[in-house]
Amino acid sequence: MILLLILALPVIFMYLFHKNRKAAKPLLPPGPPGLPLIGNLHQFVTPTNLHIHLWKLSRKYGSLMHMKLGPVPVLVVSSAKLAKEVMKTQDSVFCSRPKLLGQQKLSYNCLDIAFSPYSDYWKEMRKVSVVHLFSIKKAQSFRPIREDEISRMVAKIQALASSSDRVVVNLSEMVTDLATTLICRIAFGTRYDERGSESRRFNKLVRDAQAAMADIYVSDYYSLFSWVDKLTGKLAHLDATWKSLDMFYQELIEDHRHRNRPKTLEEEEEEEDILDILIRLKEQNVLSSNLTWDHVKAMLMDIFIAGIDTSTASIIWTMTALMKAPDVMKKVQIEIRELVGRKGKVDEVYIQNLPYLRAVINESLRLYPPIPLIPRETMEDCILEDYKIQAKSMVYVNAWAIARDPEYWEDPDTFFPDRFLNCDVDIKGHHFGVLPFGSGRRICPGIYMGLANVELTVANLLYSFDWELQSGMQEQDIDTDSLPGITVLKKNPLLLVPKKRV
Ligand SMILES: *[C@@H]1O[C@H](CO)[C@@H](O)[C@H](O)[C@H]1NC(C)=O
Ligand SMILES: *[C@@H]1O[C@H](CO)[C@@H](O)[C@H](O)[C@H]1NC(C)=O
Ligand SMILES: *[C@@H]1O[C@H](CO)[C@@H](O)[C@H](O)[C@H]1NC(C)=O
Repeated sequence: MILLLILALPVIFMYLFHKNRKAAKPLLPPGPPGLPLIGNLHQFVTPTNLHIHLWKLSRKYGSLMHMKLGPVPVLVVSSAKLAKEVMKTQDSVFCSRPKLLGQQKLSYNCLDIAFSPYSDYWKEMRKVSVVHLFSIKKAQSFRPIREDEISRMVAKIQALASSSDRVVVNLSEMVTDLATTLICRIAFGTRYDERGSESRRFNKLVRDAQAAMADIYVSDYYSLFSWVDKLTGKLAHLDATWKSLDMFYQELIEDHRHRNRPKTLEEEEEEEDILDILIRLKEQNVLSSNLTWDHVKAMLMDIFIAGIDTSTASIIWTMTALMKAPDVMKKVQIEIRELVGRKGKVDEVYIQNLPYLRAVINESLRLYPPIPLIPRETMEDCILEDYKIQAKSMVYVNAWAIARDPEYWEDPDTFFPDRFLNCDVDIKGHHFGVLPFGSGRRICPGIYMGLANVELTVANLLYSFDWELQSGMQEQDIDTDSLPGITVLKKNPLLLVPKKRV
């Protein structure tokens, strides 16, 4: 008996000790239980609409959720109040980005500003780009390009519309082509003919890059198992994607450097495309460490990866929302047509005087933020809502869920642009219930350029045509399914019948 007790003693001690240790452990936020070893990884791989999946989970587990991707802790933030905590009050702790293989490779080991972790280099590069690439003035300087490309698109649709009665236009395709040519002209000064081989090559590059960056690599979570990515061929595929992109940038750079344009400096500055500016910055050694061609290429990647899909998504979601809300559609068309009259097209100068149009776009960006999950990473240990959060935790701010928070928005699921009228809510990261561009140190620097593209395109589509559904379809038949990816695009193309206004 005594022997038994003595034998049992260590077990009892261990039990007590273990229990104590458990009690002393800082509590984690609630979250869905994970599986051994992989944690919640399976929940991140399967669903096409990760943001919606996480939104549903947050309604069960709360607006601060803890999950795990393998050994890596992940926090999911789904309320305006906590988004403010993460992106403003404690922005300096939450301002890094997770280092993920696909993004790292395509950004030349994080020499860009979208995916780079928080660092002195990042701060300096960001400051320089905000001044030279993304200023309001620079965004305005691209106005002739915007107006020209949008006019071409409208003319194309007009030709189709008058070719026969009730012709169906693939608006998703039209808008993708527009966004692509627009960004190419702004970034490289090149106009690819929409359906030409160069344009197809470029579109394939963008698609491949998007897919490679959104892909999940085993080595991101289990360094011991990095051979799995080799085995599955993912690594080879990533490498091939990077090589084709690198070759593409190299050609553009050669092209720009050998372009001899006998112009005055002033003329040049006025007509500089983004690549010209980057080359100039490299040659002038403006940063504390000299820029290399890899830096220039990484920045180019940011602009076309971030620029094309976000504009396309915003325009298509706005048109989708309007088709589902005919009263709003009518109201915004009346506003535009009354102001512009018979001028034939909406010039950019009119946009400031179209408050309802801007409210429509703000409301569409609220309900359909192009980047619904904003990734962050903690720089150090910290406290959030009394929970102890580890350094290097991945954080997802779910902008999609936040826009549907009934504590912040009245009737959040309804597309109701009037809510933006006569109120001071803006969408530039000062109000945490609507975060289409993020907020804080990591706010999207391309905000002016992005908004200008979207506003002018939508204004012209609404001014020039009345839009109808295909025969037999009702408003409620238009789906809002989306494709997987960092930028969330509408899954099924938006097919509409344009009616030329007489
Ligand atoms: C519409 O355009 C999209 C994007 O280019 C394309 O994927 C889709 O197949 C097109 N659909 C139809 C019905 O034309
Ligand atoms: C940067 O480039 C300049 C001129 O090309 C050179 O003088 C300087 O030493 C370089 N600085 C560094 C840190 O490499
Ligand atoms: C829409 O958002 C923009 C950008 O934040 C802001 O300048 C504008 O005032 C807003 N317009 C309306 C009508 O809410």
